[in-house]
Amino acid sequence: METKRWNIVNGKNIEEKIQEAAAILKTGEAVAFPTETVYGLGADATNSAAVGKIFQAKGRPQDNPLIAHVANKEQLYNLVTDVPDYVDKLIRSFSPGPITYVLPSNGTCAENVTAGLSTVGVRIPSHPVALALLKACNIPIAAPSANLSGKPSPTTAGHVWEDLNGKIAGVVDGGPTGVGVESTVIDCTQDIPVILRPGGISKEELEEVVGKVMIDPALEHAESKEKPKAPGMKYKHYAPEVPMWLIQGGSERMQAVHDELVAEGKRVGVLANRNTLEKLNVSEAISLGESPEEVAANLYDGLRRFRQEDVDIILCDTYQEIGIGQAIMNRLRKAASRYVER
Ligand code: TXA
Ligand code: MG
Repeated sequence: METKRWNIVNGKNIEEKIQEAAAILKTGEAVAFPTETVYGLGADATNSAAVGKIFQAKGRPQDNPLIAHVANKEQLYNLVTDVPDYVDKLIRSFSPGPITYVLPSNGTCAENVTAGLSTVGVRIPSHPVALALLKACNIPIAAPSANLSGKPSPTTAGHVWEDLNGKIAGVVDGGPTGVGVESTVIDCTQDIPVILRPGGISKEELEEVVGKVMIDPALEHAESKEKPKAPGMKYKHYAPEVPMWLIQGGSERMQAVHDELVAEGKRVGVLANRNTLEKLNVSEAISLGESPEEVAANLYDGLRRFRQEDVDIILCDTYQEIGIGQAIMNRLRKAASRYVER
């Protein structure tokens, strides 16, 4: 299949291009588009054949449900039942934005969107291109991240192209996404909201609005035997091309592990903050920036940039698990093959 690419960053005729992409989505094809978190691979959420094309193109396990994207609160309510009051508060504070509400499905979304579960995840993205596309289609769009299953999520149209060119109908190129890690997924079927996947909105931010918020126990401890409630969280994910070790203990420890590996004849790449890199003596390095927000925004591009032809192993810094740091460490743990503790 030939994959179309609509450039709407500096391009002309933006409205026409959005209309064209929307029309293709409505015919039941899969089209990738930018959101404020990562690029999504969209299809008509009410059309199971269209949704099937997403699973096919990504090589996604059939038991992993998709998030339905809608343009506004009214459309969100049209997909679900039994919405607790706190969801209304969360919507007013954080939507449109990087947050997904898991609520009982009213059956509007196709069965393969929910992977047979009784609940559906719904989110209102804030990216202007995503919103324009959703408004132009006027249907709920099921969209997982637009990467091949298991690979780091795409934060540019180039990443999507690398993984899915020839497998999907098109990509809307809206430039790099902003947040860089996916939305926070919250189970809203209980009296107290439960975070199933940490993401763009932190636990601290949620608690300011609704008081107590819990975290799915399966996420709290790396060694937990509990089964995660978001099926996607049980898979290994975000894997770079070469093995990656997470190194605790700052620049000195990083330098020591690096030097040992180099002495063994390994080609080593380092992924770390600008500050840490300035203290290191290494030949291959990619800076993730400085603030936690910058690190989140640069993370997946960093994971994709180290290639087999250049390095045998990646060493990556660890981050404090507060604010967006919770999402960063959640993704890094899944991407890493080994955690070298202090
Ligand atoms: O930021 C995002 O959320 C991006 C953009 C494209 O919107 N989307 C995204 O989708 O990350 P995906 O499919 O890569 O991840 C969705 C996560 C998976 O872990 C899935 O298991 C979980 O949400 N999920 C979806 N529906 C669920 C449900 N009904 N119950 C529990 N977990 C659910
Ligand atoms: Mg994903």
